[in-house]
Amino acid sequence: KFEYTNIKCRLADIEFGNFEICHLKSVNRTYKYMAMKLNLNKPVTKVKVANIAIFKKFNGYKPFLYNVTVDACRFLKNPKSYPVFSYFYRFFNTYSNINHTCPFHDNVWVNKLPGSFVNELVTKVLPVPDGDYIFDTNWYTDEVLRATISVYGNI
Ligand SMILES: *[C@@H]1O[C@H](CO)[C@@H](O)[C@H](O)[C@H]1NC(C)=O
Ligand SMILES: *[C@@H]1O[C@H](CO)[C@@H](O)[C@H](O)[C@H]1NC(C)=O
Ligand SMILES: *[C@@H]1O[C@H](CO)[C@@H](O)[C@H](O)[C@H]1NC(C)=O
Repeated sequence: KFEYTNIKCRLADIEFGNFEICHLKSVNRTYKYMAMKLNLNKPVTKVKVANIAIFKKFNGYKPFLYNVTVDACRFLKNPKSYPVFSYFYRFFNTYSNINHTCPFHDNVWVNKLPGSFVNELVTKVLPVPDGDYIFDTNWYTDEVLRATISVYGNI
């Protein structure tokens, strides 16, 4: 069974915006969710998500899948252009405001994404071995690193 263990949002460029929300919340024993909201100081037209990686704990964290890079604006126009990222996208698209084509104006958010939903995807849709994992993403606009989001979980 999947459980969130931590979330970290880091801004690499303070001019870019601010993370208004970045947390996990346990409502009760069966309902735990993650929420993230990044406010943007100006509209974003070119977005690259780079070095998307999953690390699995095994004598320290080792790469389980790594270095996937996606032109997010191209992906949003044509999801078939990045089949691997399409899988990751299913984790959050129905809980976020990301599902539209570029540009992004005021903010980007993922709201109340339940652990149980992630659990479905990692245990039923594409089974993943037990362990501790980190899911790391680095967000670039105009080729400059702006933000990093890491979600930690345990299966
Ligand atoms: C946990 O909270 C959710 C949302 O409020 C609720 O639907 C669910 O029934 C709760 N589960 C338990 C075991 O209390
Ligand atoms: C990831 O990919 C980029 C571009 O293909 C490359 O420059 C970089 O060295 C790679 N990083 C790792 C850790 O393999
Ligand atoms: C966005 O949502 C619509 C309807 O829910 C869906 O048809 C479309 O494929 C989604 N776009 C992406 C990029 O996931």
